[in-house]
Amino acid sequence: ALPGVVLVLLAYLIGSLSGSLLLGRLRGVDIRQHGSGNAGGTNALRTQGARFALGVVVLDIGKGALATWLAWRYAAGSDALVPGAYAHAAALAAVLGHVWPVWHGFRGGKGVATLVGGLAVMWPWALLGVVALWLLVLVISGYVSLASICGALLLPVLALGSDASLTRVVFACAVALLVLFTHRGNLARLRAGTESRFAGVRLLRR
Ligand code: G3P
Repeated sequence: ALPGVVLVLLAYLIGSLSGSLLLGRLRGVDIRQHGSGNAGGTNALRTQGARFALGVVVLDIGKGALATWLAWRYAAGSDALVPGAYAHAAALAAVLGHVWPVWHGFRGGKGVATLVGGLAVMWPWALLGVVALWLLVLVISGYVSLASICGALLLPVLALGSDASLTRVVFACAVALLVLFTHRGNLARLRAGTESRFAGVRLLRR
């Protein structure tokens, strides 16, 4: 067992490893200088193609899952059967690391894939609902950003509508607010009608 604070700090450091920026180094590109400027899977697909984007999403989901699992498994004093406060804090810390990465000049992505990884480990049934809503909004609207925002806003609804712990309610509200904040540029573009629609179909033909 390790002190929970150490595992939460470790989660931030793991979350700071950005899939798109690390893979981008391999091909000599910083995707923050292309497309929407976001260091995430959607902009990777938009500017680098499907295979690159798949690698980004796998890495970013994986790091969120790893950081959360480590805290759940190894935090001293935590009940191994139920994710406790440290597991929730680690999932949030990994997202914060992705958004403000210490290894990449504190300019990262919007945190959605990292959040998905954390949810997969410590709140899987909520993730199923989030993914279903995400797909529905994406198919209907064509906007990944709107789908991500709706998915994140579902979390507090699910927490408050179930017998979730106070820790989980606080976590759900915090990540929903954080995702709203990281998508503030997308929200402005959605209102202005200038947000780019999902480029998947076009890029898959490459
Ligand atoms: O999760 C990121 C996605 O919701 C939006 O990405 O590149 O379109 O701003 P982007």
